Amino acid sequence: MPLNVLPAYLLQLVLILAIWPLPSHSRPGSEIWKLVSKISTPDWFAQSQPSIQTRELEKRDGTNYNPDGTPFLWLPEDEYSGKNFFDNFDFFSWRDPTEGMVNYVNRTTAFARNLAYVTDDDKVVMRTDNTSTLERGIYRDSVRINTKKTYTTGLFILDLDKAPYGCAIWPAFWSTGFDWPAEGEIDILEGVHDNEHNQIAWHTTQGCLYDQNATFTGTIPLHDGVPSTNCWNEINHNSGCDVVEWSRASYGPFFEAQGGGILAMKWDENDISVWSFFRAAIPRDITAGTPNPSEWGLPSARLMNTMCDISKHFARHTVVFDITLCGAWAGASYATSGCPGTCDERLMHPENFEVRAL
Ligand SMILES: *[C@@H]1O[C@H](CO)[C@@H](O)[C@H](O)[C@H]1NC(C)=O
Ligand SMILES: *[C@@H]1O[C@H](CO)[C@@H](O)[C@H](O)[C@H]1NC(C)=O
Ligand SMILES: *[C@@H]1O[C@H](CO)[C@@H](O)[C@H](O)[C@H]1NC(C)=O
Repeated sequence: MPLNVLPAYLLQLVLILAIWPLPSHSRPGSEIWKLVSKISTPDWFAQSQPSIQTRELEKRDGTNYNPDGTPFLWLPEDEYSGKNFFDNFDFFSWRDPTEGMVNYVNRTTAFARNLAYVTDDDKVVMRTDNTSTLERGIYRDSVRINTKKTYTTGLFILDLDKAPYGCAIWPAFWSTGFDWPAEGEIDILEGVHDNEHNQIAWHTTQGCLYDQNATFTGTIPLHDGVPSTNCWNEINHNSGCDVVEWSRASYGPFFEAQGGGILAMKWDENDISVWSFFRAAIPRDITAGTPNPSEWGLPSARLMNTMCDISKHFARHTVVFDITLCGAWAGASYATSGCPGTCDERLMHPENFEVRAL
Protein backbone atom coordinates (compact mmCIF):
# COMPACT_ATOMS: atom_id res chain seq x y z
CA MET A 1 0.00 0.00 0.00
CA PRO A 2 1.40 3.41 -0.88
CA LEU A 3 2.13 5.67 2.07
CA ASN A 4 2.69 9.36 2.20
CA VAL A 5 5.13 9.94 4.98
CA LEU A 6 8.15 11.38 3.26
CA PRO A 7 8.58 15.12 2.92
CA ALA A 8 10.86 14.97 -0.08
CA TYR A 9 10.68 13.11 -3.32
CA LEU A 10 13.60 11.93 -5.29
CA LEU A 11 13.53 12.51 -8.98
CA GLN A 12 16.90 11.31 -10.11
CA LEU A 13 18.00 8.18 -11.81
CA VAL A 14 21.70 7.59 -11.40
CA LEU A 15 22.66 4.78 -13.62
CA ILE A 16 24.75 2.65 -15.88
CA LEU A 17 22.98 0.49 -18.42
CA ALA A 18 24.96 -2.33 -19.98
CA ILE A 19 23.61 -4.69 -22.59
CA TRP A 20 24.88 -8.10 -23.59
CA PRO A 21 23.64 -9.63 -26.84
CA LEU A 22 22.13 -13.06 -26.83
CA PRO A 23 24.89 -15.63 -27.12
CA SER A 24 24.25 -18.06 -29.92
CA HIS A 25 25.61 -21.43 -30.89
CA SER A 26 27.43 -19.80 -33.76
CA ARG A 27 29.40 -17.45 -31.52
CA PRO A 28 33.07 -18.38 -31.95
CA GLY A 29 33.72 -19.34 -28.31
CA SER A 30 30.84 -21.76 -28.01
CA GLU A 31 31.15 -23.15 -31.52
CA ILE A 32 34.80 -24.01 -31.08
CA TRP A 33 34.11 -25.36 -27.63
CA LYS A 34 31.48 -27.67 -29.13
CA LEU A 35 33.99 -28.81 -31.68
CA VAL A 36 36.52 -29.60 -29.00
CA SER A 37 34.06 -31.42 -26.81
CA LYS A 38 32.24 -33.40 -29.47
CA ILE A 39 34.96 -34.42 -31.88
CA SER A 40 37.85 -36.49 -30.69
CA THR A 41 40.47 -33.81 -30.94
CA PRO A 42 43.78 -34.54 -32.61
CA ASP A 43 46.83 -33.42 -30.64
CA TRP A 44 47.75 -30.69 -33.11
CA PHE A 45 44.43 -29.00 -32.46
CA ALA A 46 44.99 -28.74 -28.74
CA GLN A 47 48.51 -27.47 -29.26
CA SER A 48 47.55 -24.83 -31.77
CA GLN A 49 44.56 -23.65 -29.76
CA PRO A 50 45.84 -23.36 -26.20
CA SER A 51 43.31 -20.70 -25.23
CA ILE A 52 40.42 -22.99 -26.10
CA GLN A 53 41.84 -25.76 -23.99
CA THR A 54 42.32 -23.33 -21.13
CA ARG A 55 38.75 -22.24 -21.37
CA GLU A 56 37.57 -25.82 -21.27
CA LEU A 57 39.72 -26.68 -18.27
CA GLU A 58 39.10 -23.57 -16.21
CA LYS A 59 35.29 -23.56 -16.39
CA ARG A 60 35.76 -19.87 -15.85
CA ASP A 61 33.28 -17.61 -14.09
CA GLY A 62 30.50 -16.40 -16.31
CA THR A 63 30.13 -19.60 -18.24
CA ASN A 64 26.52 -20.45 -18.98
CA TYR A 65 25.16 -23.65 -20.47
CA ASN A 66 22.76 -24.23 -23.34
CA PRO A 67 20.06 -26.87 -22.86
CA ASP A 68 22.23 -29.28 -24.87
CA GLY A 69 25.06 -28.81 -22.38
CA THR A 70 27.29 -26.62 -24.53
CA PRO A 71 28.78 -23.65 -22.70
CA PHE A 72 28.70 -20.01 -23.68
CA LEU A 73 29.66 -16.62 -22.33
CA TRP A 74 27.66 -13.41 -22.39
CA LEU A 75 29.93 -10.94 -24.14
CA PRO A 76 29.26 -7.20 -23.75
CA GLU A 77 27.60 -5.43 -26.66
CA ASP A 78 26.88 -1.89 -25.48
CA GLU A 79 27.45 0.16 -22.39
CA TYR A 80 25.60 3.37 -21.74
CA SER A 81 27.32 5.29 -18.97
CA GLY A 82 29.13 8.45 -17.91
CA LYS A 83 29.67 11.62 -19.96
CA ASN A 84 28.42 10.15 -23.25
CA PHE A 85 25.36 8.48 -21.76
CA PHE A 86 22.77 10.68 -23.49
CA ASP A 87 24.51 10.67 -26.91
CA ASN A 88 22.98 7.32 -27.76
CA PHE A 89 19.47 8.16 -26.58
CA ASP A 90 16.68 10.08 -28.25
CA PHE A 91 14.55 12.45 -26.21
CA PHE A 92 10.86 11.70 -26.64
CA SER A 93 9.05 15.05 -26.67
CA TRP A 94 5.50 14.17 -27.61
CA ARG A 95 2.41 13.85 -25.45
CA ASP A 96 2.77 11.09 -22.85
CA PRO A 97 0.87 8.08 -24.25
CA THR A 98 0.04 7.03 -20.66
CA GLU A 99 -1.88 10.28 -20.07
CA GLY A 100 0.62 11.64 -17.58
CA MET A 101 0.45 15.35 -16.69
CA VAL A 102 3.94 15.98 -18.01
CA ASN A 103 5.55 17.86 -20.87
CA TYR A 104 8.36 15.67 -22.08
CA VAL A 105 11.06 18.13 -23.12
CA ASN A 106 13.47 17.80 -26.02
CA ARG A 107 17.21 17.35 -25.70
CA THR A 108 18.03 21.07 -25.84
CA THR A 109 15.54 21.98 -23.15
CA ALA A 110 16.46 18.98 -21.00
CA PHE A 111 20.11 20.02 -20.90
CA ALA A 112 19.41 23.76 -20.66
CA ARG A 113 17.15 23.22 -17.63
CA ASN A 114 19.26 20.48 -16.04
CA LEU A 115 16.49 17.93 -16.30
CA ALA A 116 19.08 15.56 -17.76
CA TYR A 117 22.77 15.80 -16.98
CA VAL A 118 25.90 13.92 -16.02
CA THR A 119 27.70 14.96 -12.82
CA ASP A 120 31.44 15.59 -12.58
CA ASP A 121 31.82 12.13 -11.10
CA ASP A 122 29.93 10.57 -14.04
CA LYS A 123 26.57 10.00 -12.43
CA VAL A 124 23.72 10.15 -14.92
CA VAL A 125 20.73 12.11 -13.68
CA MET A 126 17.20 12.53 -14.99
CA ARG A 127 14.56 14.44 -13.09
CA THR A 128 11.41 16.53 -13.38
CA ASP A 129 11.08 20.29 -13.01
CA ASN A 130 11.50 21.14 -9.32
CA THR A 131 11.21 24.94 -9.41
CA SER A 132 7.99 25.95 -11.21
CA THR A 133 4.77 26.76 -9.39
CA LEU A 134 1.97 25.74 -11.75
CA GLU A 135 -1.70 26.58 -12.13
CA ARG A 136 -4.02 23.66 -11.57
CA GLY A 137 -4.19 21.43 -14.65
CA ILE A 138 -0.89 22.68 -16.12
CA TYR A 139 1.63 19.96 -16.83
CA ARG A 140 5.09 19.76 -15.26
CA ASP A 141 8.23 19.35 -17.39
CA SER A 142 9.88 15.96 -17.32
CA VAL A 143 12.01 13.61 -19.43
CA ARG A 144 11.56 10.43 -21.38
CA ILE A 145 14.43 8.95 -23.36
CA ASN A 146 14.97 5.81 -25.43
CA THR A 147 18.02 4.14 -26.92
CA LYS A 148 18.60 4.94 -30.59
CA LYS A 149 19.54 1.31 -31.07
CA THR A 150 17.03 -1.52 -30.90
CA TYR A 151 17.54 -4.99 -29.49
CA THR A 152 15.88 -8.33 -30.10
CA THR A 153 16.86 -10.58 -27.18
CA GLY A 154 19.81 -9.91 -24.87
CA LEU A 155 20.84 -9.44 -21.28
CA PHE A 156 20.12 -5.95 -19.99
CA ILE A 157 21.72 -4.84 -16.74
CA LEU A 158 20.95 -1.54 -15.06
CA ASP A 159 22.88 -0.19 -12.08
CA LEU A 160 20.68 2.31 -10.31
CA ASP A 161 21.68 4.34 -7.23
CA LYS A 162 18.33 6.00 -6.77
CA ALA A 163 14.97 6.01 -8.47
CA PRO A 164 12.11 8.48 -8.21
CA TYR A 165 9.19 7.79 -5.89
CA GLY A 166 6.53 9.72 -4.02
CA CYS A 167 2.92 10.88 -4.36
CA ALA A 168 1.85 11.39 -8.02
CA ILE A 169 5.18 10.09 -9.33
CA TRP A 170 5.37 7.18 -11.75
CA PRO A 171 8.85 6.32 -13.07
CA ALA A 172 9.66 3.40 -15.34
CA PHE A 173 12.60 1.55 -16.85
CA TRP A 174 11.24 -0.56 -19.69
CA SER A 175 11.62 -1.68 -23.25
CA THR A 176 9.25 -1.58 -26.16
CA GLY A 177 8.99 -2.08 -29.90
CA PHE A 178 8.05 0.98 -31.97
CA ASP A 179 5.21 -1.12 -33.40
CA TRP A 180 3.25 -1.42 -30.17
CA PRO A 181 1.73 -3.78 -29.09
CA ALA A 182 2.75 -6.06 -31.99
CA GLU A 183 6.41 -6.02 -30.92
CA GLY A 184 5.62 -6.17 -27.21
CA GLU A 185 6.59 -4.25 -24.10
CA ILE A 186 8.63 -5.37 -21.09
CA ASP A 187 8.34 -3.29 -17.90
CA ILE A 188 11.36 -3.94 -15.72
CA LEU A 189 11.13 -1.27 -13.00
CA GLU A 190 7.85 0.47 -12.38
CA GLY A 191 5.78 1.82 -9.52
CA VAL A 192 3.71 4.72 -8.28
CA HIS A 193 3.54 6.90 -5.15
CA ASP A 194 5.40 5.36 -2.22
CA ASN A 195 5.08 1.74 -3.34
CA GLU A 196 7.72 -0.54 -1.91
CA HIS A 197 7.40 -3.49 -4.25
CA ASN A 198 8.50 -3.23 -7.86
CA GLN A 199 6.00 -4.33 -10.48
CA ILE A 200 7.17 -6.21 -13.57
CA ALA A 201 4.81 -6.49 -16.56
CA TRP A 202 4.47 -7.57 -20.18
CA HIS A 203 2.11 -6.12 -22.76
CA THR A 204 1.45 -7.88 -26.06
CA THR A 205 -1.11 -8.62 -28.74
CA GLN A 206 -3.52 -11.51 -28.17
CA GLY A 207 -2.14 -14.98 -27.47
CA CYS A 208 0.60 -14.46 -24.90
CA LEU A 209 -0.07 -15.82 -21.41
CA TYR A 210 2.09 -15.89 -18.29
CA ASP A 211 2.64 -19.54 -17.30
CA GLN A 212 1.96 -19.78 -13.58
CA ASN A 213 4.01 -22.98 -13.44
CA ALA A 214 7.14 -20.96 -14.08
CA THR A 215 9.50 -20.74 -11.12
CA PHE A 216 9.91 -17.18 -9.81
CA THR A 217 9.79 -15.40 -6.46
CA GLY A 218 7.18 -12.70 -7.09
CA THR A 219 3.40 -12.77 -6.78
CA ILE A 220 0.83 -12.54 -9.56
CA PRO A 221 -1.73 -9.95 -8.49
CA LEU A 222 -5.46 -10.48 -8.98
CA HIS A 223 -7.65 -8.35 -11.24
CA ASP A 224 -11.29 -8.79 -10.31
CA GLY A 225 -10.34 -11.99 -8.50
CA VAL A 226 -8.51 -13.43 -11.52
CA PRO A 227 -4.71 -13.75 -11.69
CA SER A 228 -3.38 -11.24 -14.23
CA THR A 229 -1.73 -13.77 -16.52
CA ASN A 230 -3.06 -12.51 -19.86
CA CYS A 231 -0.56 -10.12 -21.46
CA TRP A 232 -2.98 -8.97 -24.18
CA ASN A 233 -3.25 -5.18 -24.15
CA GLU A 234 -7.02 -5.28 -24.63
CA ILE A 235 -7.60 -7.14 -21.35
CA ASN A 236 -8.07 -5.18 -18.07
CA HIS A 237 -7.43 -1.80 -19.69
CA ASN A 238 -3.96 -2.81 -20.81
CA SER A 239 -2.75 -3.69 -17.33
CA GLY A 240 -0.69 -6.52 -18.88
CA CYS A 241 0.37 -9.75 -17.26
CA ASP A 242 2.23 -8.67 -14.17
CA VAL A 243 4.19 -9.83 -11.16
CA VAL A 244 4.84 -7.94 -7.93
CA GLU A 245 8.24 -8.47 -6.37
CA TRP A 246 8.38 -9.89 -2.86
CA SER A 247 11.14 -7.58 -1.63
CA ARG A 248 10.21 -4.32 0.08
CA ALA A 249 13.56 -3.01 -1.11
CA SER A 250 12.69 -3.40 -4.79
CA TYR A 251 11.10 0.05 -5.21
CA GLY A 252 10.79 3.34 -3.37
CA PRO A 253 12.18 4.34 0.03
CA PHE A 254 13.76 1.02 1.00
CA PHE A 255 15.32 0.53 -2.42
CA GLU A 256 16.93 3.92 -1.94
CA ALA A 257 17.92 3.22 1.67
CA GLN A 258 19.80 0.15 0.46
CA GLY A 259 21.79 2.29 -1.94
CA GLY A 260 19.75 1.16 -4.94
CA GLY A 261 21.01 -1.85 -6.81
CA ILE A 262 20.89 -3.80 -10.05
CA LEU A 263 17.97 -4.70 -12.28
CA ALA A 264 18.65 -7.38 -14.83
CA MET A 265 16.42 -8.56 -17.66
CA LYS A 266 17.29 -11.64 -19.72
CA TRP A 267 15.36 -12.10 -22.93
CA ASP A 268 15.96 -15.18 -25.04
CA GLU A 269 13.85 -17.71 -26.89
CA ASN A 270 13.13 -19.66 -23.67
CA ASP A 271 11.88 -16.92 -21.40
CA ILE A 272 12.02 -13.28 -20.38
CA SER A 273 13.20 -13.06 -16.78
CA VAL A 274 13.77 -10.14 -14.44
CA TRP A 275 15.97 -10.13 -11.35
CA SER A 276 16.53 -7.30 -8.91
CA PHE A 277 19.34 -7.13 -6.38
CA PHE A 278 19.70 -4.43 -3.79
CA ARG A 279 23.25 -3.17 -3.57
CA ALA A 280 24.58 -5.51 -0.90
CA ALA A 281 23.19 -8.53 -2.76
CA ILE A 282 24.63 -7.90 -6.23
CA PRO A 283 26.18 -11.14 -7.52
CA ARG A 284 29.95 -11.05 -7.89
CA ASP A 285 29.83 -12.12 -11.54
CA ILE A 286 27.89 -8.95 -12.40
CA THR A 287 30.40 -6.72 -10.64
CA ALA A 288 33.18 -8.59 -12.42
CA GLY A 289 31.57 -7.92 -15.82
CA THR A 290 30.96 -11.61 -16.55
CA PRO A 291 27.25 -11.92 -15.77
CA ASN A 292 25.97 -15.43 -15.35
CA PRO A 293 22.18 -15.50 -14.91
CA SER A 294 22.24 -19.27 -14.41
CA GLU A 295 23.82 -18.65 -10.99
CA TRP A 296 21.51 -15.91 -9.76
CA GLY A 297 18.79 -18.11 -8.34
CA LEU A 298 15.14 -17.71 -9.17
CA PRO A 299 14.15 -14.51 -10.96
CA SER A 300 11.51 -12.20 -9.52
CA ALA A 301 9.37 -12.86 -12.59
CA ARG A 302 9.66 -15.14 -15.61
CA LEU A 303 7.54 -15.14 -18.75
CA MET A 304 8.00 -18.62 -20.23
CA ASN A 305 7.74 -19.56 -23.89
CA THR A 306 5.38 -22.42 -22.90
CA MET A 307 2.29 -20.21 -23.08
CA CYS A 308 3.71 -17.28 -25.02
CA ASP A 309 5.59 -17.49 -28.29
CA ILE A 310 8.32 -15.07 -27.28
CA SER A 311 9.89 -14.72 -30.71
CA LYS A 312 6.48 -13.86 -32.14
CA HIS A 313 5.43 -11.33 -29.48
CA PHE A 314 8.69 -9.46 -28.76
CA ALA A 315 11.05 -7.81 -31.24
CA ARG A 316 13.19 -4.73 -31.93
CA HIS A 317 13.02 -3.12 -28.51
CA THR A 318 14.35 0.26 -27.62
CA VAL A 319 15.21 0.73 -23.93
CA VAL A 320 13.24 3.52 -22.26
CA PHE A 321 13.52 5.60 -19.09
CA ASP A 322 10.74 7.97 -18.15
CA ILE A 323 9.33 9.89 -15.22
CA THR A 324 5.66 10.68 -15.58
CA LEU A 325 3.23 12.22 -13.13
CA CYS A 326 -0.43 11.33 -12.44
CA GLY A 327 -1.88 9.74 -15.62
CA ALA A 328 -3.26 6.27 -16.26
CA TRP A 329 -1.69 4.65 -13.20
CA ALA A 330 -0.51 7.30 -10.70
CA GLY A 331 -3.55 9.49 -11.40
CA ALA A 332 -6.11 6.70 -11.44
CA SER A 333 -4.81 5.23 -8.17
CA TYR A 334 -4.23 8.56 -6.42
CA ALA A 335 -7.50 8.70 -4.47
CA THR A 336 -6.85 5.33 -2.82
CA SER A 337 -3.11 5.83 -2.34
CA GLY A 338 -3.17 7.65 0.99
CA CYS A 339 -1.64 10.69 -0.68
CA PRO A 340 -3.08 14.11 0.26
CA GLY A 341 -5.55 16.05 -1.91
CA THR A 342 -5.80 15.26 -5.59
CA CYS A 343 -3.13 14.43 -8.13
CA ASP A 344 -3.50 17.70 -10.06
CA GLU A 345 -3.19 19.67 -6.80
CA ARG A 346 -0.08 17.73 -5.97
CA LEU A 347 1.40 18.72 -9.31
CA MET A 348 1.14 22.47 -8.69
CA HIS A 349 3.78 22.81 -5.99
CA PRO A 350 7.49 22.45 -6.73
CA GLU A 351 8.27 21.46 -3.14
CA ASN A 352 6.51 18.16 -3.89
CA PHE A 353 9.25 17.47 -6.42
CA GLU A 354 12.31 18.31 -4.41
CA VAL A 355 15.47 16.54 -5.31
CA ARG A 356 17.35 14.74 -2.60
CA ALA A 357 21.14 14.82 -2.55
CA LEU A 358 22.81 12.45 -4.98
C1 LIG B 1 12.95 22.23 -28.05
O1 LIG B 1 11.86 22.70 -27.29
C2 LIG B 1 11.85 24.11 -27.16
C3 LIG B 1 10.76 24.47 -26.14
O2 LIG B 1 9.53 23.90 -26.52
C4 LIG B 1 11.64 24.74 -28.52
O3 LIG B 1 11.63 26.14 -28.40
C5 LIG B 1 12.78 24.32 -29.42
O4 LIG B 1 12.56 24.79 -30.73
C6 LIG B 1 12.89 22.79 -29.46
N1 LIG B 1 14.12 22.44 -30.13
C7 LIG B 1 14.16 21.52 -31.08
C8 LIG B 1 15.48 21.26 -31.67
O5 LIG B 1 13.15 20.92 -31.45
C1 LIG C 1 0.98 -26.53 -14.81
O1 LIG C 1 0.98 -27.52 -13.80
C2 LIG C 1 -0.25 -28.22 -13.66
C3 LIG C 1 -0.14 -29.14 -12.46
O2 LIG C 1 1.04 -29.87 -12.50
C4 LIG C 1 -0.56 -28.97 -14.95
O3 LIG C 1 -1.81 -29.62 -14.85
C5 LIG C 1 -0.59 -27.97 -16.11
O4 LIG C 1 -0.76 -28.63 -17.33
C6 LIG C 1 0.69 -27.17 -16.16
N1 LIG C 1 0.57 -26.13 -17.17
C7 LIG C 1 1.47 -26.01 -18.16
C8 LIG C 1 1.19 -24.92 -19.11
O5 LIG C 1 2.46 -26.70 -18.28
C1 LIG D 1 16.25 21.28 -8.02
O1 LIG D 1 17.14 20.27 -8.52
C2 LIG D 1 18.45 20.72 -8.73
C3 LIG D 1 19.23 19.63 -9.40
O2 LIG D 1 19.27 18.45 -8.64
C4 LIG D 1 19.05 21.13 -7.39
O3 LIG D 1 20.36 21.60 -7.57
C5 LIG D 1 18.18 22.24 -6.77
O4 LIG D 1 18.65 22.54 -5.49
C6 LIG D 1 16.75 21.80 -6.70
N1 LIG D 1 15.94 22.91 -6.28
C7 LIG D 1 14.90 22.75 -5.49
C8 LIG D 1 14.15 24.02 -5.17
O5 LIG D 1 14.57 21.67 -5.05
